[in-house]
Amino acid sequence: MPTLTINGKEITVDPGTTVLRAAAMLGIDIPHFCYHPALSVPANCRMCLVEIEKARKLEPSCYAKVGEGMVVHTESPKVIAARRAVLEFILVNHPVDCPICDQAGECKLQDYYVAYDSQPSRVAVPKVGKAKAYPIGPRVVFDGERCILCTRCVRFCDEITGTSELTVAERGDHSEIRTFPGKELDNPYSMNVTDICPVGALTTRDFRFKCRVWLMSSTDSICTGCAKGCNVHLEHFQGEAQRYRPRFNPEVNEYWMCDAGRMSYLELHADRLPSLRVLEDSELSWPRAARKVAALLGEKATGEGVAFVASAQSSCEGLMAGREFVRTMLDDAPVFWTGRPDGDGDAFLIRADKNPNRAGLAGIFGVEVLAQDAHRLLQELERGAIRVLYMMDSTLPFTSDEMKRFRAAVEKLELFVLQAPRRGGLDDLADVLLPSTTHAEQDGSFVNEDGLLQSFWAAYRPRTQALADWEVFVRLARGADRELSFSDFESLHGALHAEQGAAQDAGE
Ligand code: SF4
Ligand code: SF4
Ligand code: FES
Repeated sequence: MPTLTINGKEITVDPGTTVLRAAAMLGIDIPHFCYHPALSVPANCRMCLVEIEKARKLEPSCYAKVGEGMVVHTESPKVIAARRAVLEFILVNHPVDCPICDQAGECKLQDYYVAYDSQPSRVAVPKVGKAKAYPIGPRVVFDGERCILCTRCVRFCDEITGTSELTVAERGDHSEIRTFPGKELDNPYSMNVTDICPVGALTTRDFRFKCRVWLMSSTDSICTGCAKGCNVHLEHFQGEAQRYRPRFNPEVNEYWMCDAGRMSYLELHADRLPSLRVLEDSELSWPRAARKVAALLGEKATGEGVAFVASAQSSCEGLMAGREFVRTMLDDAPVFWTGRPDGDGDAFLIRADKNPNRAGLAGIFGVEVLAQDAHRLLQELERGAIRVLYMMDSTLPFTSDEMKRFRAAVEKLELFVLQAPRRGGLDDLADVLLPSTTHAEQDGSFVNEDGLLQSFWAAYRPRTQALADWEVFVRLARGADRELSFSDFESLHGALHAEQGAAQDAGE
């Protein structure tokens, strides 16, 4: 294994490692534009040039491989001068419209200009004009003047999606990214090009002019669009989600996410249940509501004809608490499950199962619950076998006809309790409405299709009276002067981990 020295620090790495990677292992950041760890290496931007002793000229560190005894300098006067020259060259025709660019604040060109160049333009002739704000596809906008022709976007479409919509057309300073004739950038993963574009040349139509990036906070989260469980940054401003961006996880989604999942952040604030309601009373605090609901359940939810619906949209912690609630407060009533219906999947990330936690639900309630899906529940309701229904989540995998039948059957119930983040077209029928949080408003975890338990964290507080599912169950139990076996998130989460570990040991 070769040993080399970078900026006076020695490191031994695998043969074939690039100088840029070796430097990164030492915590030395070498500026770069065209290099991306998941793509091929064209070495076309020259921003990553470094000085290697005994080499005749500066070398692109993204391409140069390490060698035994190599001595590298990444901050020498020659390297700094080269960076400055490269930046000046890149900026020759750049419009410098940073104040109106959505990338400002997270733009490599802006950052490197401030770090290495910081000189006014010496160009006295008019700049070459190119396409501005051109919709290159249904979800992405292209700005040709900001493009530095790094070809990351072209390589993404060639090497990751295999859809090859993009190419570099023309020559010299007229070179420009274009779609092939008759094509547009329209594949299920197209918005990833906006993440890897190092400048503001590719931006999403959704996020354009929406929020300045330095105003947002970012919370690590999980996409709930399907059972893959892609890791995301949930970025938010003043309690409102602004966008999802993929978060690197080599075991799940690497650097990517699908467009549908990215846009699913819009659901976080849509159709929310506004406030607590118990029968006609909607001016309630949680302690009062809990006592009233507990009394109603004590009166009606005993004996035959009671059913509970658990959701594959809910967190593991909510489902664990729900399981104990059913035992403690609902007399071990039969449990059905609900969630989104299956959709299309592919061989890359998108899964046909559109629920983030079906595997968690199966582990917590057992496979017999997965056999009791919402369609069986509909049958039981229609034959009058259920008189009290407690639903956790309002997501149902029904067609509009089935939904009409479900509503008609629910209208005949003695008691219908809806605990959910969203109305889901059922809130008007509920005797009791208990607003719960989305995954963006609570700590929790999901188990993805591959059996990986993944945590997410509260990004902001709910605007309504919503509580996490587990907390709703704890409060209702207290309303009946009972205690569940946990009273806080930590003990519940610990119990979940112990249960998951035991299940894995048993399966090995
Ligand atoms: S649009 Fe962005 S990613 Fe594509 S070549 Fe230009 S700068 Fe690079
Ligand atoms: S593949 Fe699934 S989990 Fe990943 S971003 Fe798309 S919808 Fe979300
Ligand atoms: S990052 Fe090395 S040449 Fe572009």
